[in-house]
Amino acid sequence: MKPHLIMLGSCLLAMVASAGYTDAPPISGYQFMEPETRQLQDDDFLNPAMFLVEKGATLWGQEWTDGGATCQSCHQNIATDMAGVAAGYPRTDPVSGRMVSLEMKVISEIAGRLGAAAPAYGSEDLLALTALIGFQSRGLPMNVAVTPESAPWIETGREIFTTRRGQLNLSCANCHQDHWGEKLRGDTISQGQINAFPIYRLTWSDFGSRQRMFTWCMESIRAEPYDYGSDEYLALETFLAVRGAGLAIETPGVRR
Ligand code: HEC
Ligand code: HEC
Repeated sequence: MKPHLIMLGSCLLAMVASAGYTDAPPISGYQFMEPETRQLQDDDFLNPAMFLVEKGATLWGQEWTDGGATCQSCHQNIATDMAGVAAGYPRTDPVSGRMVSLEMKVISEIAGRLGAAAPAYGSEDLLALTALIGFQSRGLPMNVAVTPESAPWIETGREIFTTRRGQLNLSCANCHQDHWGEKLRGDTISQGQINAFPIYRLTWSDFGSRQRMFTWCMESIRAEPYDYGSDEYLALETFLAVRGAGLAIETPGVRR
């Protein structure tokens, strides 16, 4: 292992050894950021992630096949048609009957209803459309429903969240449940909430989805990340959405 990892590992193990398990009320990652980073998110003119919302608006009105429909052909008024929608994802899809994330839903709209090539997970097009749709829920509380369909996903997500993994043998909960508010290599560990995504992350100099963040965290504890779009990540998203129920959507967020 590289020296900085060993240091990170031993420092975390010491933290974990002293851990109590606290189930605190949800707090947004925004509250743990420096004032300068908050300002970037607060000001739509400075917020780098507003680029995604603007790009999303262009895609919304664009033909996906020659002479074909646009999103807008069916969803005429995005502000009213998509108000509050993102706050309820993941949810059971009325068409397929299975749990879907917002990304999965947008992919199926493009591939299914528009007959166009589906954008890849993590592609700028998908980030842009999910940011645009998420933006229509800004300020509204996350409210993923606990239903007979979502309940097993929530349970699986909770299990993934609390299972130790990787070379550092840490679970998501070890950091985001037991040690939020503490410093780790210049970051203040937050509760690992998902209410701001997609985000612009300054340390990446790039945009990212919820699932990109999960992958970053898994890699930083030297664990094998799950695939984008996997059932495991869907379960994590569903669990985290319910765990953070009531937090206001901040999309598009800015994080350190
Ligand atoms: C070694 C400690 C550690 C572990 C273990 C860890 N993370 Fe993180 N995580 C961080 C740090 C540091 C950040 C960036 C600062 C922050 O928001 O906490 C972060 C950020 C996040 C965020 C973004 C929060 C926001 O407001 O933008 C999410 C979501 C997240 N983690 C989820 C997870 C999940 C899911 C797991 C388990 C697969 C996990 N993390 C494991 C340290 C950890
Ligand atoms: C041919 C008409 C049509 C087109 C074109 C279309 N949609 Fe839809 N869309 C629908 C209908 C009808 C529903 C409601 C049933 C459902 O959830 O599938 C829907 C549902 C949705 C939902 C879920 C809403 C909710 O309440 O959960 C999203 C998100 C969405 N569409 C996004 C898009 C995007 C993005 C595009 C363009 C890439 C698009 N749609 C293009 C007809 C369309």
